[in-house]
This record gives sequence, C-alpha cells and structure tokens, in this order.
Amino acid sequence: MRGLFVTFEGIDRSGKTTQAGLLVEALRDEGVAVREPGGTELGERVRDLVKDAALDAGPRAEALLFAAARAQLVEAVIRPALERGGVVVSDRFLDSSLAYQGDARGLGVDEVERVNRFATGGLLPDLTFLLELDPAEAAQRAGMLDRFEDEGLALQRAVAEAYDRLADASPGRWRRLDAGRPAGDVHADVMVAVEAARAAARA
Ligand code: TMP
Repeated sequence: MRGLFVTFEGIDRSGKTTQAGLLVEALRDEGVAVREPGGTELGERVRDLVKDAALDAGPRAEALLFAAARAQLVEAVIRPALERGGVVVSDRFLDSSLAYQGDARGLGVDEVERVNRFATGGLLPDLTFLLELDPAEAAQRAGMLDRFEDEGLALQRAVAEAYDRLADASPGRWRRLDAGRPAGDVHADVMVAVEAARAAARA
C-alpha cells in the first residue's frame, strides 16, 4: 500500500510551517513531518549553508545544494514512509526550487526540473497546497530575516508569480488557499482536501 504525499508551498511567511504542523498533528500516528531543506542530517547541514548570508553561493550551486538535500530526504525518509502507507507532510518540496531557483532566479524551470528529477527519481507530491498571501502583507508578519528574506519584496513578488504559473500548469495537484485568513480557517480547508485525497486513494 502506498501512502499520501502532501506538500505546502508559498512565499516566505505565508504560514506553511504552521499549516504543515497543524496537519501533522491532526493525522496523529499516520503523519510524517519533514521540511526542506532539512529533514535529514545532510539536509539540515545544507539548510545552514544556504541560509548563511556570509556564504557566496551562485544560483546554480544553490540549486544543486537544494537538490542534494532533497535526494537524501526522498531516499531516507519520504519513500520509506510512503511505502509504509503513511501520510508525508512536507514544508516545501520540488516546487520551491522551480519557483525560487528556476523562475525567480532565472535558471529556467525546465532545467531545474531536470536536475530534480535525477535527485528525486521523479517523485511528485499527490497534493500541493499553495498558501496565497500578498507579499507586502507577508513582509509585515514577524520573523527572522535571513539571506532570502533580506532580498525583500521584489524576490517575493517574483516567487508568488512563479507559484501562480506552476499551479496553473498542474491544476489536478495544486489547491490554492487564501492564507490571509486565520490559521484555523485555512487548516479546515486543508483537512477537507486531504480527506478527499485519502478517500480517492482508498477507492
Ligand atoms: P524556510 O523554509 O524556512 O522558509 O526557508 C527556506 C528558504 O529557502 C526560503 O526562503 C525558500 C528557500 N528555498 C529555495 O530557494 N529553494 C528550495 O528548493 C527550497 C526548499 C527553499
């Protein structure tokens, strides 16, 4: 039996981490929480590298670092959990690389997709939530500044547009959610969609 693979995507501070946490809590023993970059020892080390504002990393090197972290996460955590029938909930996945590196940073969505196909063996989420929030509103939400958030609104706007295009291109996999609402309301919509996907998978 194969489980269900659910991912959360959106610009920085759109509430992905909160929503991923609420979903895993609701799934109890069946939920497996991962985050990107991270979720394995290698991934957490890559996370430290890419978040270090003092480190000079060009866009190609950065894309490969994210892909390396993803490869390890898929092999060591995600595939085994899906094979056990679990529901894997990831705070970001492949689409973050397509939106940030492929589109916003200009490497090309197709090229970044190719590199990632090698990294993941072609694994795609069953369901991807796009938390939609105006970049200016997101910027006002409290949070730590890091190398990405430092770059400000222009990057976030480019990323929001990139996500929009990705969601338009694969409507069967993506669910758009208005992330400007209270977290509980967003979570209720998440649960409806996840229950529907699980029912469809069982049918
Ligand atoms: P966060 O997940 O804590 O928001 O931080 C991760 C940062 O890394 C975020 O600004 C988005 C960025 N990122 C990419 O640029 N490409 C990727 O593939 C991933 C997973 C994250």
